[in-house]
Amino acid sequence: MNQPKRVTVPTVKSMKRAQRIGMLTAYDYPSAKIVDSAGADIILVGDSLGMVVLGYPDTLSVTMDDMIHHTRAVARGVAHALIVGDMPYMSYHVSIEESVRNAGQFIRAGAQAVKIEGGKAQRIKTVEAILDAEIPVMGHVGLTPQSVNVVGGFKLQGKNADDARRLMDEAIALDQAGCFSIVLECVPSELAALITERVSAPTIGIGAGPTCDGQVLVFHDLLGLYDALAPKFVRKYADTGKEMRAAVEHYLQDVRSGRFPDGNTESFHMSTTEELKKLYGDAVVVPMPKVN
Ligand code: KIV
Repeated sequence: MNQPKRVTVPTVKSMKRAQRIGMLTAYDYPSAKIVDSAGADIILVGDSLGMVVLGYPDTLSVTMDDMIHHTRAVARGVAHALIVGDMPYMSYHVSIEESVRNAGQFIRAGAQAVKIEGGKAQRIKTVEAILDAEIPVMGHVGLTPQSVNVVGGFKLQGKNADDARRLMDEAIALDQAGCFSIVLECVPSELAALITERVSAPTIGIGAGPTCDGQVLVFHDLLGLYDALAPKFVRKYADTGKEMRAAVEHYLQDVRSGRFPDGNTESFHMSTTEELKKLYGDAVVVPMPKVN
């Protein structure tokens, strides 16, 4: 079978205004295999794993060790998509040197690029330093979940003209610094459309309307595996969580009633009665009764 070519940073850049970019998160080997074989262009190992995989209320507890562990697992499952590692809270906030070193760890773990949140002046210097180390950077403006305590919750950003202009300036600064793409999260569609028009990097929207160059969703949201938050921009394409629970309940019923495992098709047997006699001697083994 002909394998599709690996998506690279130049491929993503060339998709602006030519082809919509499909991006999804993945956090481990099986989710990466599913997303990659379905044909995603970009797989983000998002720090959203703190919420949807590790059960924290936000992304702030996620560490570099968590991210590297998950990035390695994702990299083992991907043959086609571009892998972007999401730099966690406090991994690029202390010093530029530490930020570059942490970005490098993602590349060593199998990512081809990193994502960092925010576009203020100090962040732009960090982006430039990471780029200087030959590591492609994806920007992220609008709702930046690592700022949840500053903005007071997971809320729409850029609602008024002043805020919108500030976000637009940040996106333009990230674009000029050399980000190969920019995530726009939870901003009005009108603002996302204007940013998409003004920047040369492709924009990837999540809660930013249909005019972005691409879209991203969290794997667990799309598949109905996470219900602690249900923002209106999430479209649940399947209720996998419900199906998984029904399967587990079915298994437990079968174990308790004796219907699993089947004594023939799902069990092994000794090959000769001779061996069986040697093992059992005179012992009589009484089977547990089946319960309907
Ligand atoms: O961590 C994440 O999953 C993200 C996406 C929602 C863009 O940052």
